[in-house]
Amino acid sequence: MDRYAVIGHPIGHSKSPTIHRAFAAATGQALSYEAIEAPLGAGQFAATVERFRASGGRGVNVTLPFKLDACAYATDLAESARCAGAANALKFEGTRCLAENFDGSGLVRDLSHNLGQPLAGRRLLLLGAGGASRGAILPLLRAQPAQLWVLNRNAAKAEALVREFVALGADAAVLHGGGFDALAQPQRFDLVLNATSASLSAEALPLPAHAFKPEGLAYDMVYGKGLTPFLRQAQQAGVRQLADGVGMLVEQAAEAFAWWRGVRPETKDLIQRLSVPLN
Ligand code: ATR
Repeated sequence: MDRYAVIGHPIGHSKSPTIHRAFAAATGQALSYEAIEAPLGAGQFAATVERFRASGGRGVNVTLPFKLDACAYATDLAESARCAGAANALKFEGTRCLAENFDGSGLVRDLSHNLGQPLAGRRLLLLGAGGASRGAILPLLRAQPAQLWVLNRNAAKAEALVREFVALGADAAVLHGGGFDALAQPQRFDLVLNATSASLSAEALPLPAHAFKPEGLAYDMVYGKGLTPFLRQAQQAGVRQLADGVGMLVEQAAEAFAWWRGVRPETKDLIQRLSVPLN
């Protein structure tokens, strides 16, 4: 039977085995999917992948803290992995190892298909300038928003990230970077996306209520945390549609599954099953 796995450290919390086993059952694909904890330290990720390949592994998902190591390990990087500087899915083909990053495309699919929020022509605010934000920028730009603002606590980091994408061909009239103080100017966003790790430590962000549009959407990329401080801020600002990252999680998994197996699984029921109430 073809073997797949998710590799991370820690890995006990990962929902990937549940998701991929459900996809396999629903699409009639004969495969196994396990969770592997790679030790931390130089060379440990590569050694873990090598062992898995040698025992018949066909592909892996990669989660924290190994997404950069996955990029370094791969022989062939898709544009998504190259631009993000990180990979979350690997596929083994003979001696080659192909790398993809489906986090951003999973996010865009969740926003547009599941949450009914078209992105074309709209004003988007992306909070954070770390790995999660970097992976989202290109897929969001591809959806042709009117504007995409990337704002971060450390403004210089967001500005550098934006400069990098503009150097790669992004439209400087669409993509803007800076600090949260850019929100002191009254401007409103249709979609506000939290890609910072602040929700993991239950910290609030310095966001004025006027940045949110009540008829827009607030999206926190974390999942399973209920109403995070960010989502509460959005709710208090009158935003009616709130979402966490459960849809992004399932959609990126569906993209990887389709890439490995050539069959795209349905996601709707699984997203519903894994959702926790946002209150
Ligand atoms: P990830 O890969 O999850 O994006 P990361 O690369 O460590 O993680 O980036 C974390 C992001 O969350 C950064 O943008 C960080 O802001 P700084 O660059 O200014 O450090 C942001 N972040 C984390 N905690 C935050 C907080 N309490 N308030 C605002 N931003 C926060």
